[in-house]
Amino acid sequence: MAFARRRGILVLVPSAAFLLMLLYLWNTDSAPLAPSRYLAGGGTVLHQPVQDWQPRPEFAFWSQVPQHYPPSAVRGLPRGKPVRFPRVQAAKFPAEASGTRRRQLRERRAAVKRTMARCWGAYRKHAWLADEVTPVSGGPKNPFGGWGATLVDALDTLWIMGMRAEFREAVDAAETGINFTTTNIRDVNIFETNIRYLGGFLAAFDLSGDVRLLRKAAEVGEMLYKAFDTPNHMPITRWDWQSAARGHKQEAPGSVLLAEIGSLSMEFTRLSMLTGEPKWFDAVQRIAEAMAAQQDDTSLPGLWPLAVNARSAVFNEGTLFPLGAMADSAYEYLPKMAALLGGLLPVYRTMYEKAMDAALRHNLFRPMNPTGEDILVAGQVRVEGKGRYSLEPQGQHLACFMGGLMALGGRLFDRPVDMDAAVGLVNGCIWAYKSFPHGIMAETFYAVPCNKSSPDARAVEDLPCRWDEDAWKLEVLRKAGRDAQGKDAAALAAAADAVIANHRLPQGFTAIPDRRYILRPEAIESVFVLYRVTGAEELLDVAWDMFTAIEKATATELANSEVRDVTSPEKPKPADSMESFWLGETLKYFYLIFSEPDLISLDEFVFNTEAHPFRRLVA
Ligand SMILES: *[C@@H]1O[C@H](CO)[C@@H](O)[C@H](O)[C@H]1NC(C)=O
Repeated sequence: MAFARRRGILVLVPSAAFLLMLLYLWNTDSAPLAPSRYLAGGGTVLHQPVQDWQPRPEFAFWSQVPQHYPPSAVRGLPRGKPVRFPRVQAAKFPAEASGTRRRQLRERRAAVKRTMARCWGAYRKHAWLADEVTPVSGGPKNPFGGWGATLVDALDTLWIMGMRAEFREAVDAAETGINFTTTNIRDVNIFETNIRYLGGFLAAFDLSGDVRLLRKAAEVGEMLYKAFDTPNHMPITRWDWQSAARGHKQEAPGSVLLAEIGSLSMEFTRLSMLTGEPKWFDAVQRIAEAMAAQQDDTSLPGLWPLAVNARSAVFNEGTLFPLGAMADSAYEYLPKMAALLGGLLPVYRTMYEKAMDAALRHNLFRPMNPTGEDILVAGQVRVEGKGRYSLEPQGQHLACFMGGLMALGGRLFDRPVDMDAAVGLVNGCIWAYKSFPHGIMAETFYAVPCNKSSPDARAVEDLPCRWDEDAWKLEVLRKAGRDAQGKDAAALAAAADAVIANHRLPQGFTAIPDRRYILRPEAIESVFVLYRVTGAEELLDVAWDMFTAIEKATATELANSEVRDVTSPEKPKPADSMESFWLGETLKYFYLIFSEPDLISLDEFVFNTEAHPFRRLVA
């Protein structure tokens, strides 16, 4: 944060901050603020943990269940002086210099806030303390344990948008109304519980300093920790909590998804940093060590396969290597752990760099497109034999996080090649949004990779990428399972045109296996990160186009809803579902991109995969 600042300025900064804080305290009815020792910069949090974080006795069930396999030694949090990373955010934001632009941005964030207020109001009225409100029928729904997923996911968004009365009401309700001792689901999804609930409480605490939120975080943390009570200390990612609660012994499963085991690190580490209790950090550090030890040994060295074996801690058997669904945040958390821990554990940077080198070489591809735009999509790779890789040119909305991630990693570790790829990837998602009739991309699609002849060629190399209508149509037929043998060109074109019309394929797209838009954040997330990193003003208009398109296609009377088919010529039909990430992530990123760049600066905070900002340890 203090990058390249002269000393005189540094002295001014705290006093200015202090005055602002006074003004702020005077002007708002805020929740109680934390003692300054853990609000002021991250530099002291490792050594001065927060007191009184323990769950209250009536919620202390999980901390009292005996452990069958207590670790013989617990790794402590790393100590020492944090690395001084390069500045992540741009030095200049041209948009901030124009009064007209600033007024426009104020209106845009007010529009985002109106949507937030409408959705929050619907949740409060129709589904208070349930996981979700159904945005068409107006009822409660509990797919995530019934612990108020939307409420917890939205806490920091409410804080950031200045909805302090709503925030306080939600914290009061969470304190006594959410009970992690019990749920009516059979298996607890450890990953989802971690990123939404633990992440949500931690970030809301990091922003507000209200210690009740840290206690709730510790309650979730105590429950999740029990899922690690296995002979080899690897977690059970879909966890039979009742059996554990009864004291039965448990073992980690043979096959778990990479994302579900690899994306626990940030939340567990932040919880240890804030409480001073190292057991959570110890638990996730064991996973990182297993990943690091086997990273060079997979069939696509640098990347880990989609499914790994937790029971035997084998992470290098398997042949499918996606960056999107089921793998994504395992990669996302590598540079973010480096940022969170002030670079004190170099293994995270090393793992990130190896993974990105492999992804650049194998997964990223240029989709052929009618206007010849220089863009990238993150595909998946199947290993067919030693050194034989086949690229599956699939695009996923989920994989749109990669642009933002490579922008962050490119800045933190000074890797220009990652920055270039980040721009290509973000533009790839923008292209996909613009290609569809409502201005919103589908969940998944296939495209034609330009460099098809050599799938393992570096995708970011300067390969010719001219639009070839016939090549596109042939690929459409192939994807549709049509035989192109012995047909003349005119017959082929006619057959392809029929498929294109039938499946409503935009130019350049060869198939759309999943036509939904489920209010996901990844595209705006990456546009937001790239904006903060580059200051590029045109991204503000891109974001606004995305927001207005999404609002138009998904708004219901009550809230916003997942839609079934973004290729539909009319307004897409709602699916009566609004996942908590709409308030927790999507609206937060829209609000932040239209806000001043120092609101949740990427030099002070790092976002978990559910868009919950944690304070970074900074030099
Ligand atoms: C939480 O749920 C458990 C199990 O139903 C119950 O025994 C306990 O009293 C509850 N705690 C509170 C504070 O409601």
